[in-house]
Amino acid sequence: MTGATGNVGRHLVDLLLQAGEQVRAISRNPERAGLPGDVEVVRADMSRAEDLRPALKGVDRAFLFPAAGQAHGFLSEAAKAGLGHVVLLSALAVTMRQAGALGRVHAEHEQAVAGSGLPWTFLRPGAFMANDLRWAPGIRDDGVVRAPFAQAATAPVDERDIAAVAARMLLDDGHAGKAYELSGPASLTTAERVRILGEVLGRDLRLEELTPAQARAQMITHTPEVVVDSVLTLFASFVGRTADVSPAVRELTGGAPHTYADWATRNAAAFR
Ligand SMILES: NC(=O)c1ccc[n+]([C@@H]2O[C@H](COP(=O)([O-])OP(=O)(O)OC[C@H]3O[C@@H](n4cnc5c(N)ncnc54)[C@H](OP(=O)(O)O)[C@@H]3O)[C@@H](O)[C@H]2O)c1
Repeated sequence: MTGATGNVGRHLVDLLLQAGEQVRAISRNPERAGLPGDVEVVRADMSRAEDLRPALKGVDRAFLFPAAGQAHGFLSEAAKAGLGHVVLLSALAVTMRQAGALGRVHAEHEQAVAGSGLPWTFLRPGAFMANDLRWAPGIRDDGVVRAPFAQAATAPVDERDIAAVAARMLLDDGHAGKAYELSGPASLTTAERVRILGEVLGRDLRLEELTPAQARAQMITHTPEVVVDSVLTLFASFVGRTADVSPAVRELTGGAPHTYADWATRNAAAFR
């Protein structure tokens, strides 16, 4: 497992262990990984082939999160190790013309995986519900969410559902060569998510809509400019529309996707 300490990865680790699988995870900081004791945690950086070679030895299937755009090194080592299946965490952005650089980055990852000769499955989630954790400091401080595009709609997906689908892809046969678009159960605008979060927290939250320029100035402090610009263009295109809801989580896992209120309830402590 790559990305095992991430939003999706932690849930996937738990599901694989519950299924009785032997799990090896890479992390740049094993001592801080905080993964269950049954997981073999190997120190490895995706950009270093010399780390990946021993990490991939004896592995038969992998969950690939190409951190920092590092798919090629991983794939060439995975091909040498004879992996039987790679499940790639891609993004719905690959299907969206207006996604610009964001879509291209993920499309390049998909092409690299497809070109590796390894059997693959692509998971293409839309916006993660976990993205709203970035609202936590503002909510804790003064009950204000500062975000652009109040009326932009997405169908955000709970990271637990992405992990549940990834687990099925790794455990079951029959998904090689397939790409699945993943969403949550409902189209919600930013303003609707703030309202639901307030209901769950029992607080009156106020949405202070940032201009795209204000949002850009904040985002470029932690994200490459080219990605920020494509994210803002994409979200501008989501204003006034209803987001598509995919049936894939239910079809692939047999369970209903978690609602935003479920997610907010489970993560309420972060906002308090
Ligand atoms: N957020 C969204 O709305 C959204 C939507 C669609 C797709 N996606 C895609 O989903 C992915 C993010 O998934 P996530 O939220 O689960 O991840 P995350 O929480 O951001 O976690 C980052 C993970 O990457 C690992 N990592 C980072 N750099 C690394 C490196 N150089 N070598 C090895 N490991 C490295 C970290 O491991 P250590 O720190 O332990 O090394 C950690 O496990 C991205 O590819 C994103 O484009 C996101």
